[in-house]
Amino acid sequence: MARNAPIFVCAECGAVHARWAGRCDSCGAWNAVHEEAGVAASLPKSVGVAHGKGRAATLVSLEGEEPAPPRLSAAVEELDRVLGGGLVPASAVLVGGDPGIGKSTLLLQAAAAFARQGAKCVYVSGEEATAQIRMRASRLGLQNAPVSLSAETDLNAILAMLEAEKPAVVVVDSIQTMWLDSVDSAPGSVSQVRAAAHALTAFAKRRGAAVILVGHVTKEGQIAGPRVVEHMVDTVLYFEGERGHPFRILRAVKNRFGPAAEIGVFEMTGKGLAQVGNPSALFLSERGREVPGAAVFAGVEGTRPVLVEIQALVAPSPPGSPRRAVVGWDSSRLAMILAVLEARCGVALSGNDIYLNVAGGLRVGEPAADLAVAAALLSAAGGDPLPAEAVFFGEISLSGAVRPAPQADTRLREAARLGFNVAFAPSQVKPGANSGMTVRRIEHLSALAEMALGVDGPAAGSGKDRTGTGRGDERA
Ligand code: TYD
Ligand code: MG
Repeated sequence: MARNAPIFVCAECGAVHARWAGRCDSCGAWNAVHEEAGVAASLPKSVGVAHGKGRAATLVSLEGEEPAPPRLSAAVEELDRVLGGGLVPASAVLVGGDPGIGKSTLLLQAAAAFARQGAKCVYVSGEEATAQIRMRASRLGLQNAPVSLSAETDLNAILAMLEAEKPAVVVVDSIQTMWLDSVDSAPGSVSQVRAAAHALTAFAKRRGAAVILVGHVTKEGQIAGPRVVEHMVDTVLYFEGERGHPFRILRAVKNRFGPAAEIGVFEMTGKGLAQVGNPSALFLSERGREVPGAAVFAGVEGTRPVLVEIQALVAPSPPGSPRRAVVGWDSSRLAMILAVLEARCGVALSGNDIYLNVAGGLRVGEPAADLAVAAALLSAAGGDPLPAEAVFFGEISLSGAVRPAPQADTRLREAARLGFNVAFAPSQVKPGANSGMTVRRIEHLSALAEMALGVDGPAAGSGKDRTGTGRGDERA
């Protein structure tokens, strides 16, 4: 490929621009586009000219006995599950997350766990000196785990070491610190990060090693974010959590060897990350007595049910533009629910400040949380607590109709296990066998508004049945 004039690359998403721009057209990030020397990925001029010459690609049929890939288990259940049942040899995994969230801690613990299972394990750090890693290891009680360390950023030296050592598991912390002298631009630039990730994934495929790359999520500027290598790796995990909360969620957003959207839950303690086998109990443990504005959402993350409290506060707003603050949920989704409440149920909250929080630092992405959010808002607006033994789930459409949510049985079973006995759910939900839950079927959001506030919406029934007894209930 020819050396080209400087190009302009977005550090967030890697999009290439012809000229500098304050905002990336492709992903919308501000201040992320910057000039980068390097090789432009242009198509060869002769595409389609030399057809019929050279080696032909092989074709095979879809049918064939492919054994399931062998797995390396970390014996850390939360991590193994997110990986889809363990680490697959000859694969590349990206672990992204904000700086300081605990990526290095997680991967040092994982490396020690793999090594103690008998896998040859190398931990390469471009961020910390060996002394720092040793200190962390002894703090975590892992000083005698058979992990080999290297504090190095020169990728050629690292690859030479890996070729000689032939480890089964390689951790590279972080991909943004690695550099190749064959690439012109600075360490951390999109070209360097891509080239380094390419070299390491190629090593993984060539030598059958499992390579785990750490990628810092960067806010803005010259350092490339982990998104620019997502397409090169087999598995993408994000480590998330709110600062100030000890809970950390490891979430699979892409996995060629297992289900995506699977989560693992950890707690950051003084001795590193501890796994949390029962996340619902943990997220609900801070739940106090009944207060207005708190609704329990029966959610599903990947294959696992997770119950979490959604908290809303509705306060009078000074004239002007009312405040909307959302933690752990999508703010445009909140705007939609408020609009549906106003237009379809006659509950106008547009003149109020509204705060919404998902307790425990979890980020909820499921549309099925709509009904729980609406219930929390209605309860906050009316000042009446919701029944303490109730959970909510269901997606709300623009018409106000409550749409079915997947895995209703899983949700009901988890709620019953944790001592809840009523579920406000879409009308299609049948009470699960033996779950012991009473299912309150909500066909339209106005029915919930009517129960909570006594508001008659356009589609609501005539009676002001605040308790909602009787109609549509069914017991397992
Ligand atoms: P770290 O793994 O260095 O984060 P990252 O690699 O994602 O940047 O962890 C950072 C935080 O974790 C740090 O603020 C201290 C805290 N921590 C603990 O609370 N307990 C521990 O045992 C360890 C090792 C770290
Ligand atoms: Mg780190």
